[in-house]
Amino acid sequence: MITLVEDREKLNEILSHYSGHKEELIPVLQEVQEKYRYLPADVMLEIARFLHVPASTVFGVSTFYAQFKLTPSGKHVVRVCRGTACHVKGSPRILREVVNRLGIKPGQTTGDWEYTLDTVACIGACALAPNMTIDDETYGQVTARKVAEVFGDRTRRG
Ligand code: FES
Repeated sequence: MITLVEDREKLNEILSHYSGHKEELIPVLQEVQEKYRYLPADVMLEIARFLHVPASTVFGVSTFYAQFKLTPSGKHVVRVCRGTACHVKGSPRILREVVNRLGIKPGQTTGDWEYTLDTVACIGACALAPNMTIDDETYGQVTARKVAEVFGDRTRRG
């Protein structure tokens, strides 16, 4: 159940952008995820009520699409590409560097909720392999040194 007034207000603010039709399910889920950084179960129940659809439909859609997260992510999501082109160009080494730097494995989040680490099949920028992304920013031709630079720079920026 949503208990925090702040959470209730946040959800009401999101739902105020919609009219309550079942066709709005995916846009609502996308906006909720953008604001919460994942889809909390109690919020999905509220969405089901708002859109007049069974909770099983909301849970079904949210588990079907890879874009939706059912567990909280860190403030920043780091993705290392494991596609063929990136693999050939050394992405396993890049992933090791990131794992060592963040102290977490793919699928995990740092204790301070700053970073979540994931891998991805291909981000469609094979010519720049090996690639990694942090949120919406893509880093191409990544080397171990570049990993250090990127995270060093991000740490300095806070
Ligand atoms: S394989 Fe990594 S971008 Fe395509």
